[in-house]
Amino acid sequence: MNRPSTRLVLALSLDGRLAPPQGGAAQIGGHGDRLVLEEALAWSDAALLGAATLRCHGSTCLLRQPQLLAARQAGARPPQPVAIVASRSGSFADGLPFFNQPLRRWLLAPESVAAAAAQGRGFERGVPMVGWSASLAALADLGIARLVVLGGAVIAGELLAAGLLDELQLTLSPQLLGGPHSWLPAGLAVPEGRWRLLEQRLLDDGDLLLRYGCPAAGAG
Ligand SMILES: NC(=O)c1ccc[n+]([C@@H]2O[C@H](COP(=O)([O-])OP(=O)(O)OC[C@H]3O[C@@H](n4cnc5c(N)ncnc54)[C@H](OP(=O)(O)O)[C@@H]3O)[C@@H](O)[C@H]2O)c1
Repeated sequence: MNRPSTRLVLALSLDGRLAPPQGGAAQIGGHGDRLVLEEALAWSDAALLGAATLRCHGSTCLLRQPQLLAARQAGARPPQPVAIVASRSGSFADGLPFFNQPLRRWLLAPESVAAAAAQGRGFERGVPMVGWSASLAALADLGIARLVVLGGAVIAGELLAAGLLDELQLTLSPQLLGGPHSWLPAGLAVPEGRWRLLEQRLLDDGDLLLRYGCPAAGAG
């Protein structure tokens, strides 16, 4: 099935946590991490995030770097990737800043919820969630060739378990957070094999970018 190329982008502590022990919004990466996040957004046609992440942060990341915006403009691409929120409930607090960001917003949700989203409620389009494979194929049909996945752990885990993540772009930040919020849900069955290192870059404040490509099928 045709589907977008996918890249998971996360900032992690050295002990693999994506949020502090108490949960909620985390500021894990530094300035350099923000720049590489924007590079990934500039690469993408759409950025997918889980509803819980959106509820925690209230908004999503915008591309702001002038040279990245100029490159997209030169390529006749919209300034920002489409923001796609995955949600089963479709329920968000009124007045979430996200709904005032200068973005196209799509909701990936069960059919009835997605249909309601298409009739207002702050989303321009509802995309039916009919399983990750088929829904990613539907996104490809809508012109999404490159998809950045912004987390959180639940969404990352579902896509990884389904073998639908092509790249992992992880910023390792030199701090230990402890607590239960690993970047993948505990007990997840993940595909086997060694990921291929595609890029390593030292960012500022000791942050380290690591980008890996998924193991070739059948590689052990
Ligand atoms: N460090 C980082 O780079 C980073 C990045 C992202 C997030 N985070 C952190 O991660 C935490 C949030 O992550 P999380 O793992 O709790 O949640 P999440 O992955 O952001 O979102 C989970 C939600 O996604 C929706 N969902 C899940 N599976 C779905 C499916 N198959 N179809 C449709 N919708 C689906 C559900 O929304 P409904 O509840 O609406 O049904 C579910 O509650 C926060 O603490 C955030 O700060 C950190």
